[in-house]
Amino acid sequence: MALAFAISAVPAVAHDGNHTVPPWQEASAWPDRVIATFEADPATSLAVNWRTIASVSASRAEIALATPDARFDLTARSVSAQTEIVDLAKTMFGGADIAIPSNDKLPAVAYHSVRFDDLRPDTLYAYRVMGADGLWSEWFQTRTAPLSGPVRFIYMGDAQNGVLSLWSRTIRAAYQAAPDARFMLHAGDLVNRASRDTEWAEWFKAGGFLHAMVPAIPVTGNHEYDMAAPGETERVRLLSHLWRPQFRLPVDGTLPSAVHETAYAVRYSADLDVFVLDSNQRDMAPQAAWLDAQLKASKKRWRVVTMHHPVFSSGKDRDNKPNRDLLLPILTRHSVDLVLQGHDHTYARGLLDASAQLPRRSGFKIGDTLTTMFVNSVSGPKQYEFRKVGWDDYAPTGVKLERQGENGQFFQVIGIDGNRLTYTAYTADGVQYDAAIIEKRGNTKRLIKNDKDAPPTRRFDNTLPYQSPNF
Ligand SMILES: [Fe+2]
Repeated sequence: MALAFAISAVPAVAHDGNHTVPPWQEASAWPDRVIATFEADPATSLAVNWRTIASVSASRAEIALATPDARFDLTARSVSAQTEIVDLAKTMFGGADIAIPSNDKLPAVAYHSVRFDDLRPDTLYAYRVMGADGLWSEWFQTRTAPLSGPVRFIYMGDAQNGVLSLWSRTIRAAYQAAPDARFMLHAGDLVNRASRDTEWAEWFKAGGFLHAMVPAIPVTGNHEYDMAAPGETERVRLLSHLWRPQFRLPVDGTLPSAVHETAYAVRYSADLDVFVLDSNQRDMAPQAAWLDAQLKASKKRWRVVTMHHPVFSSGKDRDNKPNRDLLLPILTRHSVDLVLQGHDHTYARGLLDASAQLPRRSGFKIGDTLTTMFVNSVSGPKQYEFRKVGWDDYAPTGVKLERQGENGQFFQVIGIDGNRLTYTAYTADGVQYDAAIIEKRGNTKRLIKNDKDAPPTRRFDNTLPYQSPNF
């Protein structure tokens, strides 16, 4: 007899059970939840996932050069999809059936995926995906990565709560601010309850066709994991059973299988590497060793690391000392340019002084050398108080908090162009909140712009009253 257990969401929140299933959540014979990701070289390939009802057992996708011709589609080539059935109401873990109460009335669905290969770099393509025979999506246009040269991308912190109602405006404003963005980096906690299909339905509806046009680099937060209880004495974290079916991501065989598709590298171009960590793991040592080796081997001019839990916390009463002790020496040894994080539901940007081993200076000035820039951000409506001491207790590391914020929804646009990295943070109304430019010359990396004074720092006491969202 199969054992049966239930999972509990992290944290436990009311409202499980009698929720309404909106019609746009239900799978049909038509494709939905279409999303592009990078599984291999972004210059020559593109991965796409989509969903249908479970009876669609075979599917395919088509891709063509996106030319101005009205019937560009007649030049398309077809690629067969891989298909897997996902039981929304339960999943298997350690040989046991794990029930997912919030999905218990939902039928199984099919997730399909393809990888388009042999594409040309820096080229606009159009693709479409099929559900049941002849039931096609619209054509989505997307551009492959350039081999080198300037690119911009979007980075967002936690969406997590009220994803359709209140986060949708942030992702849409981000696209308005940077319609040329080559990818969108989601730094964890995309939803609140990892396996609850309703919340993923909201995430896909909020982003709509942007998810299909602008490839995603998704990062796992603690809310992409449920707490599974296979025995009274054992509670273990269980990755959402939707993560791997709905995002086709790189598998690095040198990493433990538990972090396949949650820790990975995206070699975007000759100028940019992005390294994604799964900071939810109890044992971070294998990922730290992997990151150290990857950074040592990377010759790219710009290296970005992203993970959900911040190296330097900004939320009240929060700290991640074990991860900081493990990862900070690696990030500084390799002079990683940018660390993009979430989790603390505040805005924070700080710089690590290149002279950290020397007596600490009073603060950064334009032209100062630096090692690494750290950002914590939030794109959804859930907001925390900023740490009372700011980053003062982190001062022995050489880090200096440059800009902070409370009670705001933010998105960031990051550009690399030759030896310059331009970083800009916006609030969800599209107004610039923070900016910095880093320039590299020879072996030095200098801050050449730091827009820390305008507009005024957002605080709970100078912004509209806040109430914790109850979704
Ligand atoms: Fe989190």
